[in-house]
Amino acid sequence: MMMSFGSSRARLLALSLGLSTLAVGVAHAEMPGLELDGDAAAGKKIANDRAKGNCVACHIMADAESPGAIGPALIAMQTRFPSKEELAVQIWDATAKNPEAVMPPFGKHEILTQKEFADVVEYIWTL
Ligand code: HEC
Repeated sequence: MMMSFGSSRARLLALSLGLSTLAVGVAHAEMPGLELDGDAAAGKKIANDRAKGNCVACHIMADAESPGAIGPALIAMQTRFPSKEELAVQIWDATAKNPEAVMPPFGKHEILTQKEFADVVEYIWTL
């Protein structure tokens, strides 16, 4: 009796561990393999457009008008992110790295179209 109780608990534990590993894998793989060769000039407009990316509401960026400072200043990005892809993941879904992130998941929630997303990533990568 004890044995079978113990092993079914162990199986349950194994199952729930497996499920949480799966969930993490899915969350991370969510960003589709996008072409990250956007238009930086278009991305700059979107990032500063209060009705679109509105990154300016929370981030200081070069030439931004009355930016907010809720998030870190977006400067020296290429020294802070190892690749454009890593930067893209952060913008696609900030909760992938930090479940408590207040930054909206721009890609995951389709706040930006895939073209707008690629343009913004291209622009931010130049900062
Ligand atoms: C509501 C406020 C808010 C908005 C809007 C916002 N962010 Fe953020 N962002 C944050 C916060 C806060 C962080 C800090 C990390 C966290 O919360 O996990 C952050 C982190 C980041 C980082 C990581 C910076 C670093 O050095 O680690 C990047 C890159 C970034 N945001 C880009 C963007 C872009 C691009 C946009 C617009 C498309 C945007 N953010 C819109 C709040 C915001």
